[in-house]
Amino acid sequence: MCKVKTVVLGVTGGIAVYKALDVVSRLKKQGIEVHVIMTKSACEFVNPLSFQALSQNMVINDMFDEPKHWEIQHISLAKKADLIAIIPATANIIGKVSNGIADDMLSTTIMATKSKVVFAPAMNTNMYTNAIVQENISRLKGLGYEFILPDTGRLACGDVGEGKLAPTDVISDTIIGMLDCPKDMKGKKVLVTAGPTIAPIDPVRYITNRSSGKMGYSIAEEARDRGADVTLISGPSSLRRPFGVKFISVNTNSEMLNAVLDNYKDQDVVVKSAAVADYKPQSYSSEKIKKIDGKLTLNLIKDSDILKKLGDIKEKQILVGFAAESQELIKNAEIKLQKKNLDYIVANDITSKDTGFASSYNKVTVLCKDGQKILLEKMPKRMIARELFNLINGKR
Ligand SMILES: Cc1cc2nc3c(=O)[nH]c(=O)nc-3n(C[C@H](O)[C@H](O)[C@H](O)COP(=O)(O)O)c2cc1C
Repeated sequence: MCKVKTVVLGVTGGIAVYKALDVVSRLKKQGIEVHVIMTKSACEFVNPLSFQALSQNMVINDMFDEPKHWEIQHISLAKKADLIAIIPATANIIGKVSNGIADDMLSTTIMATKSKVVFAPAMNTNMYTNAIVQENISRLKGLGYEFILPDTGRLACGDVGEGKLAPTDVISDTIIGMLDCPKDMKGKKVLVTAGPTIAPIDPVRYITNRSSGKMGYSIAEEARDRGADVTLISGPSSLRRPFGVKFISVNTNSEMLNAVLDNYKDQDVVVKSAAVADYKPQSYSSEKIKKIDGKLTLNLIKDSDILKKLGDIKEKQILVGFAAESQELIKNAEIKLQKKNLDYIVANDITSKDTGFASSYNKVTVLCKDGQKILLEKMPKRMIARELFNLINGKR
């Protein structure tokens, strides 16, 4: 079982402070404990109450506040943190840390920690490209501090250029990836399929399966953060494309089949988490089918069983399938594991109310071809992905 991780989030006084709220929310959804330290300037932009409500912890901003329990807070937080992330990071905090200044709660906590520290700078382009700021960043990088570099774009001041805070999903994914993620898949190739596929009926209608893509995207991100070379083949999904993976967008079963076969041969691990449509209309109407009085009958025919095909031609690949069932979950998953020549199958009880489909959480049983059954209790999908790769990589 994964130990709950603690992130200390340092918030400094830039215009992008409000975006750090979204990072808190994303980390909390992954089951991560978040403690927020705000600088005095940051409190000018957003009331600490917002961070308090989202993190469900008191926000700390004054080093000389009367402590709630007797402990020296900058030391206890510095020790408690698995990671300290500064979002957004002002030119000021970068300059202070780079020069060994510890004159408030945040800079003192950073000074006192032995854990990893990551900065996500955000500032006006002229500030960001200022030689002093760049020298401070280089110096900190040389000392082992990490950076999530800013984007180029339209800044709050109206200028266009470098200095825009990296997107919040990139920041939260990077943090999650840095939290004790084993780097045990360097040089491995991993193919993941995610999301639904669609089977068009006519130009406006289609049938599909329920799937947000969250489970597959989390698997792809976990493999990426463990150092693998990842290809993600996704059906239609509203999720943002993960950075640092080869992304192939498909719609139908046959498009997914072709994309998977094109990429299958040299993969080490293939995880088929997509909810592929098993049936398609017997014929596609190129004109929109007119509404008629009475019943409209749709004839459906079976479409390709991609997982079965992959099992049949499997060579060195570790093949992982998913089974979404509403009854006799384990029995049906066992049959599928055998029939499709899989190495693992992740059995997903779709009757559960607070996990599965669009939820960020899942509760699954992983069945291995050697007969082992491992129950993964309700946890964020990213942590399910971590446990799955721990199992595949012999770390469980
Ligand atoms: C409206 C406004 C927006 C600001 N935006 C930024 C910013 O995006 N990045 C930055 O480095 N400084 C920005 N500053 C300047 C910082 O607030 C200032 O350097 C402050 O001393 C930073 O303190 P801190 O690092 O302790 O939070 C801004 C100031 C104001 C008034």
